Amino acid sequence: MPSCKSVYEPQEDSTLLERYVRQYSRGEVLDVGTGSGIQAIAASQNPNVASVLAVDVQRGAIDYCRENIKNPKIKFLQSDLFSNVKGKFDTVISNPPYLPQELKLKDLTIEGGKKGYEVIEGFLNDVNSFLKPDGIILMVFSSLTRKNKVDEFIRNNMLDFEEIGKVHIFFEDIFVYLLRKNNFLKKLEGNGINNVKYLARGHRGLLFTGLYKNRKIVVKTKNPQSRAIGRIENEAKWLEKLNKRKIGPKLIKAENDYFVYNYIDGDFIADYIKKSNKTQIKKIFKKIFNQMFALDKLKIDKEEMHHPLKHVIISKQKPYLIDFERTHYAKSPKNVTQFCQFLMSGHLAKILKDKKIFVDKSRVIGLAKVYKNNQNIANLNKIINAI
Ligand SMILES: C[S@@+](CC[C@H](N)C(=O)[O-])C[C@H]1O[C@@H](n2cnc3c(N)ncnc32)[C@H](O)[C@@H]1O
Repeated sequence: MPSCKSVYEPQEDSTLLERYVRQYSRGEVLDVGTGSGIQAIAASQNPNVASVLAVDVQRGAIDYCRENIKNPKIKFLQSDLFSNVKGKFDTVISNPPYLPQELKLKDLTIEGGKKGYEVIEGFLNDVNSFLKPDGIILMVFSSLTRKNKVDEFIRNNMLDFEEIGKVHIFFEDIFVYLLRKNNFLKKLEGNGINNVKYLARGHRGLLFTGLYKNRKIVVKTKNPQSRAIGRIENEAKWLEKLNKRKIGPKLIKAENDYFVYNYIDGDFIADYIKKSNKTQIKKIFKKIFNQMFALDKLKIDKEEMHHPLKHVIISKQKPYLIDFERTHYAKSPKNVTQFCQFLMSGHLAKILKDKKIFVDKSRVIGLAKVYKNNQNIANLNKIINAI
């Protein structure tokens, strides 16, 4: 029995997981948070297992295992989750700590962080990069961790799961999940997109970051909860069209159910304004107005420019419009006038005031009306000069 304080003495969660580890492990195995080494030993005893790499964040646990477990199939390594791990595995095992932290000093053997699920979240966010395409994950966790959160992390990371074991002890249920990469993730990886990580979720779209030909990209696909049809294809077409006018991030690749564009490393518009000085802000407004004008001239309405908080990213003093989900042709597009509305909105008032930028509402409204009736460059410049 382990004696060192940093070694987790196997409990019901350990023995439940051990049963499935014995049964399902195969090929090259990674055990994350090995503790006493119980799962690593169980895996090594399956004849289908070639080798086991067992890691733990605590030096004490690794020293304990190295001293007490002499098994040629198993190697031990100190690592904070995957930080020191290299390669891809057929089986990844984990019994992560899952209780919310009680004292200032975290008990690494059982506490996962302030909410309890932080280590599980970190594990699920990174595990795909260490899992072969048809690899499996065996993970145990308890109802003392918020199960809906765990299920959310699993969904966001494009994993499919099956509950293969469950026991009830005292106040908690303990679950064992068998997880695999979902078909969409396998398809992305098959098309050379790696390191896929969840970025954000909108009403209609799901966004992931990834690496494609050594550059950071964004993958946009349909949110399975959305009933809208053909939006992804449509948005990719708009992006391709607008790229020719130097609008939007560069489209890299489009398939029927997803498209890929260059990742823009920058700030959303409100954050940019907060960080920048008056001259920089005015320059950016001018550049955005010019893009709005280009769209108006093309008779294209981007929509939502009166509230573009998540629709404009500024990188290296250049604004990039993103999100063309609702873009359409229109007889009288409202891009410029909607952006005027945004600059006069309550949301921006305080931020602009802090930067000593004052928008004379009645003047801008008047100029916007003139522009609306005659969308030309002279009328646009009058608006720009008024701000
Ligand atoms: C609940 S114990 C499980 C131990 C053993 N695998 C078992 O099934 O009995 C959790 C283990 O995860 C380790 N751990 C906690 N945070 C970690 C992290 N960020 N990276 C790697 N291991 C971690 C702890 O040191 C502890 O050994």
